[in-house]
Amino acid sequence: MRYVIGVDLGTSGTKTVLFDEKGTVIASRTIEYPMYQPKNGYAEQDPADWYNAAVNTIRDVIEKSGVDNNDIVGLGISGQMHGLVMLDENNQVIRRSIIWCDQRTAKECEEITEKVGAERLIEITANPALTGFTASKIMWVKNNEPENYAKCRHILLPKDYVRFMLTGEYATEVSDASGMQLLDVPNRCWSEEVCSKLGIDMAMLPKVYESPDITGRITADIAAKTGLKEGTIVVGGAGDNAAAAVGTGVVTDGKAFTTIGTSGVVFAHTSGISIDPKGRVHTFCCAVPGCWHVMGVTQAAGLSLKWFRDNFCHEEIETAKLMGVDTYELMTAEADTVPIGSDRLLYMPYLMGERTPHLDPNARGMFFGLSAMHTKKHMLRAVMEGVSYSLRDCVEICREMGINVSDMMACGGGGSSPMWRQMLADLYGCPVKTVASKEGPALGVAILAMVGAGIYASVPEACAQIITADKVQEPVAENIPQYEKYYQLYTQIYPAAKENCAKLAQL
Ligand code: XUL
Repeated sequence: MRYVIGVDLGTSGTKTVLFDEKGTVIASRTIEYPMYQPKNGYAEQDPADWYNAAVNTIRDVIEKSGVDNNDIVGLGISGQMHGLVMLDENNQVIRRSIIWCDQRTAKECEEITEKVGAERLIEITANPALTGFTASKIMWVKNNEPENYAKCRHILLPKDYVRFMLTGEYATEVSDASGMQLLDVPNRCWSEEVCSKLGIDMAMLPKVYESPDITGRITADIAAKTGLKEGTIVVGGAGDNAAAAVGTGVVTDGKAFTTIGTSGVVFAHTSGISIDPKGRVHTFCCAVPGCWHVMGVTQAAGLSLKWFRDNFCHEEIETAKLMGVDTYELMTAEADTVPIGSDRLLYMPYLMGERTPHLDPNARGMFFGLSAMHTKKHMLRAVMEGVSYSLRDCVEICREMGINVSDMMACGGGGSSPMWRQMLADLYGCPVKTVASKEGPALGVAILAMVGAGIYASVPEACAQIITADKVQEPVAENIPQYEKYYQLYTQIYPAAKENCAKLAQL
């Protein structure tokens, strides 16, 4: 039997999983690390924490499993996207990484749009200038910390910094590079035009590979530290969402997945490139060579329910403790006693502004239609429905762009709720399924490593062998028109409140 390792460098921690070639989990280990928020809207992490977590988790899974390192044939890395790592001429990290959820770069986004041109930027990078993306973070350092920028010789994404430390290679791959806003996404290479208009020296950027390509080999030093064999291949890997797509088998046209984690994502595979001229969804290269994906993001999906739980569900929290069950189980059971539409109550999940479809950092959450007859359980159901309406917004844009979304997988914490999956099936009008393996991104990059090591001929072939569907929720015919009425009204509410959201932000 041959084995591979998938490393998933997340925001709360790094999870490393050792799989056999059939995708069975042999050993798993997670190490957490902090996120620093030195100012409101800032978010930073220390690349040394990522490196230490990667080395220690790799060593631990090998030790725990007792697998002979001669049989570990490859390693793949998945990573939180968009973060900026800058190295000096001695390969030392210059400053903490400014990560994906940092919002300090609004001015730089205006500068990028002005320098490249709004339409040209979308044509080349497939996305409008966004505060989360790497280019605006580079420009921020250039504008605000010129002494740091002057020292910079190499620019890397979070997982590519770990790759550099494991292999000594400056490399990235197309899916993660798409989130830098420096990649020519249709042509899958760095854009000379964008780099030169922004004054970013292309020599600082790593070499771009396809996701299953071999990008380097484990060095002797890392072999000694981890127990891996020197020379073990490290493949490109993928950004976390592209990796989750492989780990849920979303690798051919028609397939898509919805994640309900802190944020919510609707990710649709597409073998031809498709760009929303309004920039409401992201178009990125995906981990299947020569293919792309379109991705809509709801900023506060699971976060909305967590916010409701933490502020209003103390009773449920206590009862769940006594019963030894999950609080969300009790909350969803209460919500399930309320009819579709929550007796005419709607919730807008814009607690953290919104990406898809509004691209508005000033958007804010709302309950609409509150009446004295409403109780906590109505509000609970309204929160779950509001998040589902927002995810339907993402699916609508994909469909408007001609992308067939007919086979939907569900993942993330919220995706494990049968009630939430049923709402999605009724609102999307297609079956919503789960997969047997819960390892998402780690399995995804392990599969890429299997392809890189030659165990499987292609990513879709590997997924066909490894990924199996678990539960299926079919849309219920009589629910569809009921949800539809509420969804149509939901789409009218934010546009009517947009101007007042902006005014509220100024108060
Ligand atoms: C994608 C995005 C997040 C990060 C962190 O655009 O911002 O999914 O990759 O997980």
